[in-house]
Amino acid sequence: MTRAGFLKWLIGIFGVAAVAGVVYPVLRFLKPPAALSGAIGQVVNAGALSSFPAGQLTAVVVHDQPAAVQNLNGKYAVYSLICTHLGCVVALDGDAFKCPCHGSTFSTTGTVTHGPATLPLPTYHSQTQNGSLLVGPIDLSGATYPTWYKGEFT
Ligand code: FES
Repeated sequence: MTRAGFLKWLIGIFGVAAVAGVVYPVLRFLKPPAALSGAIGQVVNAGALSSFPAGQLTAVVVHDQPAAVQNLNGKYAVYSLICTHLGCVVALDGDAFKCPCHGSTFSTTGTVTHGPATLPLPTYHSQTQNGSLLVGPIDLSGATYPTWYKGEFT
């Protein structure tokens, strides 16, 4: 190898390393670690059933995401509080949900009562066990929900 050829090869190696040093962190930022997706699917204990009064919505945090538990005569539903429009956190507003970003409102069963959101709030899989409410992953079977419900955001 000539001296000029060696220098070109060396400059090429440094160029590839420099590009990789920029591209790799960007790709890592855009794609969350696999552990995050796994955590979204784990079952967690949301609390004792006695902490969810009948006929009320109670705010909880599930998998580090805001949610609300509804107790309808001993039947429990856990709603994600991430708006289906663009992903803002909806607030409990009396006995319903209201998004502060663009004004969407949802009924106590998560259905849209005022847009621009078009999809209902998804619920988490949940069940009672030994006096506690266990909450699993979000049930995405009811519609084609945005990706932010699948653990693809932090
Ligand atoms: S993000 Fe909720 S209405 Fe737009």
